[in-house]
Amino acid sequence: MNPLIAPSFLSADFANLRQDVEMINNSKADWFHLDVMDGVFVPNISFGTPVIQAIKKHAKKPLDVHLMIVNPDNFLQMFKDAGADNLSVHYETCTHLHRTIHAIKDLKMKAGIAINPHTPVNVLQAIISEIDLVCMMSVNPGFGGQKFIESTYNKIQHLMQLIKEKKSKAKIEIDGGVNLKNAPLLVKNGADILVAGSTVFASDNPVQTIALLKKCKRRKIL
Ligand code: DX5
Ligand code: ZN
Repeated sequence: MNPLIAPSFLSADFANLRQDVEMINNSKADWFHLDVMDGVFVPNISFGTPVIQAIKKHAKKPLDVHLMIVNPDNFLQMFKDAGADNLSVHYETCTHLHRTIHAIKDLKMKAGIAINPHTPVNVLQAIISEIDLVCMMSVNPGFGGQKFIESTYNKIQHLMQLIKEKKSKAKIEIDGGVNLKNAPLLVKNGADILVAGSTVFASDNPVQTIALLKKCKRRKIL
């Protein structure tokens, strides 16, 4: 089984977004990963719905939107209208996470929960069977191009156990510092989806880099 590849547009050329959208359309990538930052939950500001809407017009693959914003409940409909197919909210930003997840599902989007590197997997125990994906942060969210946090491998194993125990269908997405070196091991350990920003967009041949990431094989477990 090969992973899904979701290049992160945070590292794209913002003055030439159309070109990067077409590059993804013509590559083996599966999703567009779009990082929304508010300067409050994370110490950076990226882009919002107008940019997502513009990407949606040309994208031939689903939009995987990762919200790094406080009070995401106020904006779910806006992201749906902008074209989000998957919407992930941070565990750390949601007081009424169950309500938020169901609001996302009611809007007919796939619902994801992102967790920071310091957040243990077991906080997902009561909700794991109701979500479509876990976006496990392998860097502290806010910036592209950071160093991968090695303890992520352990967390993947905990998450796999939890998913199995609860008979959940949630997919495991790894976000941050993914590169051609750690990707094979991540996939072997159970990653279903790899997000990659700088590894893809800073490479000489992004299409080829995506194809190499896609080649990683998942070992048959469960
Ligand atoms: C970080 C974002 C990531 C980021 C990944 O807060 O959620 O999606 O763009 O970038 P790289 O792959 O460069 O670490
Ligand atoms: Zn992200």
